[in-house]
Amino acid sequence: MNKGIVLAGGLGTRLYPATKVISKQLLPLYDKPMIYYPISVLLLANIRDILIISDPYNLKSFKNLLGDGNDLGIKFSYEVQQEPDGIASAFLIGESFIGNSNVCLILGDNLFFGPGFSSILQEVSSNVVGANLFAYEVRDPERFGVVDIGKSGEINNIYEKPIKPKSNLAITGLYFYDNSIIEVTKNTKISKRGEREITSINNFYLKTNNIKVKTLGRGFTWLDTGTHDSFLIASQFIQMLIKQQGLQIACLEEIAWRQGWISDEKLEEHSSYYNNNDYGRYLKKILVSQK
Ligand code: TTP
Repeated sequence: MNKGIVLAGGLGTRLYPATKVISKQLLPLYDKPMIYYPISVLLLANIRDILIISDPYNLKSFKNLLGDGNDLGIKFSYEVQQEPDGIASAFLIGESFIGNSNVCLILGDNLFFGPGFSSILQEVSSNVVGANLFAYEVRDPERFGVVDIGKSGEINNIYEKPIKPKSNLAITGLYFYDNSIIEVTKNTKISKRGEREITSINNFYLKTNNIKVKTLGRGFTWLDTGTHDSFLIASQFIQMLIKQQGLQIACLEEIAWRQGWISDEKLEEHSSYYNNNDYGRYLKKILVSQK
């Protein structure tokens, strides 16, 4: 079974002053804390053993929010990242958690939404070899790791925040690796800006011909919620989807129940806990309509 890591540290300086005393990943995107969204991606990928990594100040709040996961039929563990010294440091902090498994890392501020995403996730998750990444076309590729894909689909290179990007395809914050990731991370040098760069790691897998990149097409949404505008846009997007269809997005209780990890009785308990709002009413509604 694959393990999952949510990296939810960072300084959040682009969201200051809103995030001066609280992690952005605890702030609500419309009706639920931001971290619910990346966690939901792991659950949809059939991953139930999840490590939450955050900074020393916020880790306790994540524990208060999510507990041990027992109520959702999953398992949450927690580790501190002392300094935001790079995305890839997650694999060293999580070394003993990962053990002999494959691992899926997702960044705490990444929001994915699109038709067929669960099947895509389950397909990738059930057959992880080397590095399995996702690319998405963006207007401002210079802010991201950018992949240069050749005419016959071959991957030429991945560039970290290039000044003159060779394509508009950004590598998203969702990464699957087989167990070699721990050794690869240990053998990758720390960059000039003092970070363990995920792009250096991905380029290692590229050099050793052990990488796959799946492009998420038009109609798919990938939002990074790190600026005030993108944060508000993401909230409004979630609100629109929920209001329009009456269906929840990233509702952890619903996913756990549909996956068969919790009973009807447990879902009923969750719905009673939230009985004063639409979230609780939604849980009640899905339970009744499925019976
Ligand atoms: P960034 O957006 O690169 O950084 P940040 O969240 O600190 O924000 P800002 O640029 O506004 O200061 O991080 C992307 C995600 O990865 C975010 O969810 C935080 C997380 N992250 C860590 O938890 N630890 C790290 O060392 C890094 C680099 C990122």
